Amino acid sequence: MNFRQKLIVNGGRKLEGEVRVHGAKNSALPLLSAAVLPHGETVLHNCPALTDVDAACRILTHIGCKCRRDGDTVTVDASNVFGSEIPDNLMRQMRSSIIFLGALLGRMGRCRLSFPGGCELGSRPIDLHISALRQMGAKIDEEHGFLDCTAGKGLHGAKIVLSFPSVGATENILLAACTAKGETEIHNAAREPEIVDLAEYLIKCGAKIRGAGDGVIIIEGVERLSPCEHSVIPDRIEAGTYLCAAMITHGEMILTNCRTEHMNGFLQTMETMGARIYTYGGGKLYITGKKRLTAPPTIRTMPYPGFPTDIQAPFTALCTTAEGTSVFVETIFENRFRHVSELMRLGANIKTEGRVCVVEGVPRLSGAKVCAADLRGGAALVTAALAAEGTSEISGLTYIDRGYESLESTLRSVGADIKRV
Ligand code: EPZ
Repeated sequence: MNFRQKLIVNGGRKLEGEVRVHGAKNSALPLLSAAVLPHGETVLHNCPALTDVDAACRILTHIGCKCRRDGDTVTVDASNVFGSEIPDNLMRQMRSSIIFLGALLGRMGRCRLSFPGGCELGSRPIDLHISALRQMGAKIDEEHGFLDCTAGKGLHGAKIVLSFPSVGATENILLAACTAKGETEIHNAAREPEIVDLAEYLIKCGAKIRGAGDGVIIIEGVERLSPCEHSVIPDRIEAGTYLCAAMITHGEMILTNCRTEHMNGFLQTMETMGARIYTYGGGKLYITGKKRLTAPPTIRTMPYPGFPTDIQAPFTALCTTAEGTSVFVETIFENRFRHVSELMRLGANIKTEGRVCVVEGVPRLSGAKVCAADLRGGAALVTAALAAEGTSEISGLTYIDRGYESLESTLRSVGADIKRV
C-alpha cells in the first residue's frame, strides 16, 4: 500500500449502470473475531477484500489460526489457537481490534492487547466493553497502554445494562457470553444488522442466543461451539455511498446483492431530496435523481434503525449542491466533520459548530486537491469530486481502502472518470 497514492477524478459525468454491493466490513470484522471461538474451520463467504479484513486475518494468524482467502471466501481454522496477546503493531493497523477481546477471553480465558486508543473520529473509549466483561468475571488491568484481561475461573453470565447501545460492546459481550457459565442478558443492546448477522453465525455454531436485533439479547452459555459456514450480509454503508454518488451526479443506478430493509434509515431521506427509489426482490434496488436535489429535513445520526452515522459524511457531500440549507447533528461521534474543511476546498458552503453542521447548497462544485482524514470522510470527498467541475486529486487512500473494495474500478464501470496514480 503506497501512502502517496491518490485518486484523480474528472467530475461532472452522470453515473449510470449497475453495481454489486460487497459484504459488510462491520459484519466481516466481528465474524472473523468470532471464528476464534469454535475449535475448527469456519468458512465466511461474501467477505470483502479490505485492508481492515487483512489486518484482522493477520491478528488471527498471530494467535495460531490458519487463514486463507479464495476469492470472496475466507476460511479460518481455529483448531489450534495458542496465543492470546495482540501486539501493538497489529492493534494499530485496525481500530476495531478491540472486538477480539471477548472472543479471546471466551476461547483462551485471557487476553492481552494494547489499548486501541483514539482515532480520527474521537476518543473511542471502551469503558462499556470493560465494565461489562468485569461483570462477567473478567479481571482487567490497564497499565502502560496495555489491557491485561484474565478470567481464571472462566466467565459467568450477568445482567448487563448498556448506558449506550454500543455496537462493539454488544459484540464483545455476545462473544464472551456464548461459552460463559449461565445466562447473560444485554439490555439496551445495539440493534444493527451486523449484530444480527454475528448472532446468526454464533447460533449456527451452537450458541444459544435470543433477541438479537432487539434491545434485549439473552445468551445461555454452552460448553463449546463447533464451526460452520456463513455468508456475510451486504454492506448497507457501501450501498448508501454509491447511491449518494448516483444522486449527486444526477444519474441512475441499479444496486444488486443489497438488503434494502437494512437501508431504511436513509432511503426515505433520499426520497425527500427528490430521488426516486424502487426496490425489487432478490436484493435489487433502482435509483434515479435527474433533477436538482432539495435539501432534506434536519438529519440526526442515531443508533440503528435511525440515520446511520457512517453515511453522514457522504450525505453531507450530497447536500453541498442541493437546493436550500441542510442541517446535520452528529450524535454518535464527537469528531466526525473532518471532511467539511476539505469539501469547502471544492467550493462547498458549510459551517460546523460542535456536533452540528450547516450546509448551504451551492449551484456547483469545482475540482481541487483534497485529503481524506478518515474512512467515510474520504468517501465523501470522492462523492463530491464526482460532481465537481474539472479535476480533483484525493489523497489519504489508506483510509478509503479500509472500507471500500475496488472503489475506483466500480465507479469507472458506471461512467466515472477516475483513476488511481
Ligand atoms: C462500530 O464502531 C462501527 N465499526 C463504526 O463504523 C460505526 O460508526 C459505529 O459502530 C456506530 O454505528 C465497526 O463495526 C468495526 P460504538 P464502534 O461502540 O463499535 C461511544 C466505519 O466507518 N462508546 O457503537 O466503535 C463511542 O465513543 C466505522 O465503518 C463509549 O463511550 O461504535 C461512540 O461515541 C466508524 N464507550 C459511540 O459510543 C464504549 O465503551 C458509538 O460507539 C464504547 C463506545
